[in-house]
Amino acid sequence: MKPSRRELLFAAAAAPLAVQAQAQTPSANDHVQIALIGAGGQGMSDVRASILAGSKLVAVADVYDGRLTRSKELWPGVFSTRDYREVLARSDVDAVIIATPDHWHQKISIDAMNAGKDVYCEKPMVQRVGDGQDVIAAEQRTGRIFQVGSQRVSSIIYQKAKDLLAAGAIGELNLVEAWWDRNDAIGAWQYSIPPDASPQTIDWDSFLGRAPQVPFEPVRLFRWRNYRDYGTGVAGDLFVHLFSGMHFVTGSIGPTRVYATGGLRFWKDGRDVPDVMLGLYDYPQTDRTPAFNLSLRVNFVDGAGETSGFRFVGSEGIMWIGGDVTISKQPRPSEPGYTIDTFAKTTQDEFLKQYREKYPPARPNADAMQPVSETHYAPPHGYNDHLDHHRNFLAAVRSRKPVVENATFGFRAAGPAVVSNVSFFERRMCEWDPQTMTLKA
Ligand SMILES: NC(=O)c1ccc[n+]([C@@H]2O[C@H](COP(=O)([O-])OP(=O)(O)OC[C@H]3O[C@@H](n4cnc5c(N)ncnc54)[C@H](O)[C@@H]3O)[C@@H](O)[C@H]2O)c1
Repeated sequence: MKPSRRELLFAAAAAPLAVQAQAQTPSANDHVQIALIGAGGQGMSDVRASILAGSKLVAVADVYDGRLTRSKELWPGVFSTRDYREVLARSDVDAVIIATPDHWHQKISIDAMNAGKDVYCEKPMVQRVGDGQDVIAAEQRTGRIFQVGSQRVSSIIYQKAKDLLAAGAIGELNLVEAWWDRNDAIGAWQYSIPPDASPQTIDWDSFLGRAPQVPFEPVRLFRWRNYRDYGTGVAGDLFVHLFSGMHFVTGSIGPTRVYATGGLRFWKDGRDVPDVMLGLYDYPQTDRTPAFNLSLRVNFVDGAGETSGFRFVGSEGIMWIGGDVTISKQPRPSEPGYTIDTFAKTTQDEFLKQYREKYPPARPNADAMQPVSETHYAPPHGYNDHLDHHRNFLAAVRSRKPVVENATFGFRAAGPAVVSNVSFFERRMCEWDPQTMTLKA
């Protein structure tokens, strides 16, 4: 039987270096051939990164014709269709990038793996808690490479933070705080609606998919994040990045308790999700970390532009992660304080006598001074973790070696994010089993 294009590609990747070196001029077969499903803002950004990382785009699917036209303007000659199944049926497609609204991630991922395609699925891996196990099962059953698109796990910045934490740079971890605040309309998901949006230019039923049938209303497609039927609110959109980044740094697999609160405070444009959300999470002890707490915050009414970051609090210092990593160390006072004013005078005298026996008064001298330090670890100028994430994906497609952010990792980040929505909307604290990835009733 004639080997398939994919088999040739993988055979080339596995061949000894000497054999590979004969191929001086890369042929089309040296590229992993990709297709994009969902050609909106992130899909197009993913394709650009993937092409830079060494792939070739051959097909695009989108339910809105304008995005197909734009794809052909950007990548002339590319096959385009409204129906993603036509992309999956093509033998020249090795891997797909799925960048549709969240409610389609599970189905298209499973269909793609069943069709023999490797998958780069945008975060959050799933829209609902019940979706996750099916994607994991499909990945395991088909043996396809499946990577979720939370790029922090491929970032050298997060790798540095992981190494520093493991080396004890801040001592024993006790708290992680992370946030993602914005204050402008686009940051708050008021994306543009094209003037040609109509039932003629949009396959409305294919957009809706499993969501409830509602009449054509373009705002629901172009601002899908604002509706629970298609998106996952700020938790699925932004908390999930914070979970995946933090899990990568700590080696944690998820919280055991989830509590989220917040509200719709400002962007009252018909959306049914909050624009301010706070989440609290209990993380159990692992072989890499003691038990610790996590707090997450998204505020679209923050008034300070866009800021996002992490603060890891340890017994010996603080580690900040943003565009770089900073370790700050503050010395602890060498003697404890005391609160004795409310004791009887004789008791105060006795306390002070004992205290001074234990901590003799000493006039400070130069030796008593301790270093207060702050160390920055900055990536090279212009560093791009999104590009590295696509490089890692393509490397795995060629080598068949596992990716870090596979379906299990992806669900361990998306699970607590979507459970945060359960907690918020059902107004309750939720119990999550991070091992089995199940929500306890
Ligand atoms: N990794 C990141 O940093 C990052 C950043 C932004 C978005 N995302 C993720 O990427 C995904 C897409 O987000 P976006 O901002 O690009 O949204 P978008 O609205 O700009 O693009 C989504 C596209 O999917 C199309 N679509 C809808 N249903 C479809 C279907 N059944 N088949 C094919 N196409 C369909 C839409 O017409 C639209 O063009 C989301 O899951 C989002 O969470 C990730």
